[in-house]
Amino acid sequence: LLAIVISLALSFILGSIPSGYLIVKKFKGIDIRKVGSGNIGSTNVKRGAGKGFSIATQAADVIKGAVAVLVAMGFYKFFDIGMDRNFFLAMNAFVAILGHDYTPFLGFNGGKGVNTTLGAFVLIEPIAVFTGVALYFVLAKVTKIVSIRSMSLGVTLFLVTLIKGSPFGNVIFTLLAALLMLYRHEENIKRLIRGEEK
Ligand code: G3P
Repeated sequence: LLAIVISLALSFILGSIPSGYLIVKKFKGIDIRKVGSGNIGSTNVKRGAGKGFSIATQAADVIKGAVAVLVAMGFYKFFDIGMDRNFFLAMNAFVAILGHDYTPFLGFNGGKGVNTTLGAFVLIEPIAVFTGVALYFVLAKVTKIVSIRSMSLGVTLFLVTLIKGSPFGNVIFTLLAALLMLYRHEENIKRLIRGEEK
């Protein structure tokens, strides 16, 4: 049990590194939470600090999710976890996303988890992740609104996992990740309904 707790704690801490906030603060000296949508994710970093910083933020947010799962794989290999491997890894993936969305480093109010979700699940459900990303780019032809495409990506990740008959842990935690992503887009959804989304 101790190994499970430590692994989950590490996943949470890795996820909670507020990449976008740190990058924009260090190189631009501004608080990204006071710009645009106020989000710390790569979309808003692009608005507030430009494309280069946005790409750096995106890379960092994807990588931290993947590293959390890699570390969990190590834990599974070297300790007696006593739990289904898929379930354990997918749980760590989800906890990393929780860390990003509710980072203690920013008063438990972080981002929306899109990039971290990609990184966290890419090693577990690569086909579902790449299908979601592909749809994201296809939708770019239809809408320039990032939040719509992000939310579609989250839901697609879960649906593909479900349809291809993936292990239970992957299905349940991609479902939770999709629901969390929609929940964290609450303000975007309200703006979409009002026709004010950027
Ligand atoms: O990745 C988050 C995106 O879906 C929306 O970001 O800054 O437009 O709220 P933002």
